[in-house]
Amino acid sequence: MKVIVTGAGGLVGRAAVSSLTTAGDDVTGLDRNALDISDESAVRATVESQSPDVVINCAAWTDVDGCEFDQQRAMRANALGPELLALACRKVGALFITISTDYVFDGEKEGFYTQRDQPNPLGVYAASKLDGERRAQASWARTIVVRSGYIFGAGGLNFLSTFLDRARRGQHLKVINDSFGTPTYASHLAGRFHRLAELDLPGIYHIVNAGEGASFAQVAETAFEKAGLDRELLENISLDSLSRPAPRPRNSRLRCLLSEAIGMEPMPYWRDAICEFAEETAAASPSEAT
Ligand SMILES: NC(=O)c1ccc[n+]([C@@H]2O[C@H](COP(=O)([O-])OP(=O)(O)OC[C@H]3O[C@@H](n4cnc5c(N)ncnc54)[C@H](OP(=O)(O)O)[C@@H]3O)[C@@H](O)[C@H]2O)c1
Repeated sequence: MKVIVTGAGGLVGRAAVSSLTTAGDDVTGLDRNALDISDESAVRATVESQSPDVVINCAAWTDVDGCEFDQQRAMRANALGPELLALACRKVGALFITISTDYVFDGEKEGFYTQRDQPNPLGVYAASKLDGERRAQASWARTIVVRSGYIFGAGGLNFLSTFLDRARRGQHLKVINDSFGTPTYASHLAGRFHRLAELDLPGIYHIVNAGEGASFAQVAETAFEKAGLDRELLENISLDSLSRPAPRPRNSRLRCLLSEAIGMEPMPYWRDAICEFAEETAAASPSEAT
């Protein structure tokens, strides 16, 4: 398949380019310099000139607190961008896959959020992402929305790699122990994209690592254990104690009814995913990991 990946400089975008290339796809990864997804003429020109089979949108403005202070920028990147890409895909008859977030839910539910639950975003970032889902789906029937959450992976500014880097320098870290999500390894998430493109079944998918979900504190503790780091460096705190500008859901654990219904194999268990991640980062920087 001929695939364009937007936001290819980001955590998920890099994993997507790597995974799709391994799967044998003809992949063009475009970072923000190569394509600003909120630039209508650039989006149209890029998609029309390349005429891909699939466009996978991993671009977003992911600064959850920053979005509270610049709603226009959030809406351009997270809502207008997916809409423009969906319209361009429609023009060339390409499948469109766009990544969204567990934060579309308000966290008031006990248990897992499925496709049957009504989104109710709490902040500007979450609202802009939900708007992006809806605009994309309204613009082009062959749209797949992939919601994920608590994503970690190599080389990005995600919470887990930041924690590991700082702990390896002996720094103490505060971790939230009273909000819960479904941790997801970027490589495992990206590993689903090829299959979703092959299936070409539009809808909303919740793609996360398997298991009961976890708090950031449990994720960090597991990673520290796997990486052989001192757990005493971690201090548990509550979500409310941080008083951050953007509200976050207390529970955003996801489960995918659609994947189950079509018989997709479960994703690896989240603790195993963290183990794999810790081993890969240790292999990449052996001196830091000891
Ligand atoms: N990380 C998580 O825990 C998490 C959880 C749930 C859902 N998601 C979703 O997963 C997707 C990928 O996120 P990520 O974790 O990979 O975030 P990321 O590392 O911040 O990557 C996003 C990329 O998009 C780029 N970008 C921003 N605005 C753009 C624009 N207008 N045009 C083109 N590119 C633009 C960014 O470039 P610059 O850095 O140069 O701005 C960045 O390289 C997003 O849809 C996000 O909402 C992430």
